[in-house]
Amino acid sequence: MKLKSLFICQACGYSAPKWMGRCPDCNGWNTLAEETVTASPHTRISDSEIIPLMLDEIEYEKGERFLTGIGEFDRVLGGGVVPGSVVLIGGDPGIGKSTLLLQVAERITSGSRNVLYISGEESPSQIKIRSGRLNVSAKPIYILSETSIDDILEHLQKTMYGALIVDSIQTMFTSGISSAPGSVSQVREVASILMKYAKKNSIPVFIVGHVTKDGTIAGPRVLEHIVDTVLYFEGDRGHPYRILRSVKNRFGSTHEIGVFEMREGGLEEVVNPSSLFLSERTAGSAGSVVVTSLEGSRPILTEIQALVSSSPFGIPKRGAIGVDYNRLLLLVGVLDKRVGIHIQGQDIFVNVVGGLELSEPAIDLSIIAALTSSFREIPIDSSTVVFGEVGLAGEVRGVTSAEVRVKEAAKLGFKRCIIPERNANQISVNTVEVIGVSTVKNAIDIMFH
Ligand code: TYD
Ligand code: MG
Repeated sequence: MKLKSLFICQACGYSAPKWMGRCPDCNGWNTLAEETVTASPHTRISDSEIIPLMLDEIEYEKGERFLTGIGEFDRVLGGGVVPGSVVLIGGDPGIGKSTLLLQVAERITSGSRNVLYISGEESPSQIKIRSGRLNVSAKPIYILSETSIDDILEHLQKTMYGALIVDSIQTMFTSGISSAPGSVSQVREVASILMKYAKKNSIPVFIVGHVTKDGTIAGPRVLEHIVDTVLYFEGDRGHPYRILRSVKNRFGSTHEIGVFEMREGGLEEVVNPSSLFLSERTAGSAGSVVVTSLEGSRPILTEIQALVSSSPFGIPKRGAIGVDYNRLLLLVGVLDKRVGIHIQGQDIFVNVVGGLELSEPAIDLSIIAALTSSFREIPIDSSTVVFGEVGLAGEVRGVTSAEVRVKEAAKLGFKRCIIPERNANQISVNTVEVIGVSTVKNAIDIMFH
């Protein structure tokens, strides 16, 4: 094997024969680091001869997946664990990744599978302490404190497990590569070794990946391409709520979310997140409105708050938490120009309660409603839910799955939904009053008559 030296971007995996100050691929400054790589680091997935199959001949084994029993986790995976799949779980340090996986391990073992939990970060006794907190015991969970993937593989040749957990990928290394653990080539190589093992033995592998300050999995996007499924575990350290979100899934739909609450005894599933996100709502305050946004296939009711106040300085301030900043600027422009509500000169802040990120355009109309309510100091009726996309002409556009959204509102006892005109006649829920609006002006007239 020939060794050669390459400069590899630690943020995106771009490689160059010489050092550069700026990565031409991701434009990061000073991200290239020298790494020694073998000339042919490719590993073959299988040793057998390759034979293509005709599409018609392929049999789809339906009962393949197995459920962990943690409903929120199974749903995010697309309906349970696929044997032979590699799942990457990314998240900030301390968010609860190890806790989640230990709880998953416990559930998997209750279904006659044994689990190997490999930790490169914690000693067996530290894991024991955690398991005590979580009340996990007397189950066939095996703990291995090890960082050499070569030694681990050697052990795995002799002993078979029902599932593998690797915590974390940044601590693992293979002696085939000379660069440090956590570097791009190590992370990539270790991931493909695990991928090969998972596929060959039909064993699910869960990998923990730490996230860097800018929110990407350290050593890096290349990893996301290798694995089958990428989940992000998010949440605010100040809140007990944690959201598990799928951003890539070869075996299911993406953007599904699972909601958990971090308690003394570990993570608890939150089966009804809508009532959780609305639990601290103070009815009757100006600037607050409830929206149904769709997370994957799931409707979730959340409160959007706005604060519009006169600006003490020449340049008004804008802030957005949980909604897109540019989207906010656009909506402020629409209010100003199309409706004649002049808030351009005011300080404007928008916040989504509970730490949720809402990215779909269906929340536009609710942002407009919250802004107007705060500006005019008039509360919006607290039993009303508002959603709809807003266009630059001030029109309200139809959204997807309107019926699902209205149903969720009805389920939680809301009495009135203000929704796009186009969707209004498709709704067959009779416990709520559905009002269709075609323009922003129209919607504001109804909300603040
Ligand atoms: P951990 O799973 O170690 O995070 P990660 O692996 O993502 O770095 O979780 C750490 C935090 O979770 C820690 O601040 C303590 C808290 N925690 C609880 O609140 N309850 C529990 O039962 C456990 C095990 C942890
Ligand atoms: Mg951990």
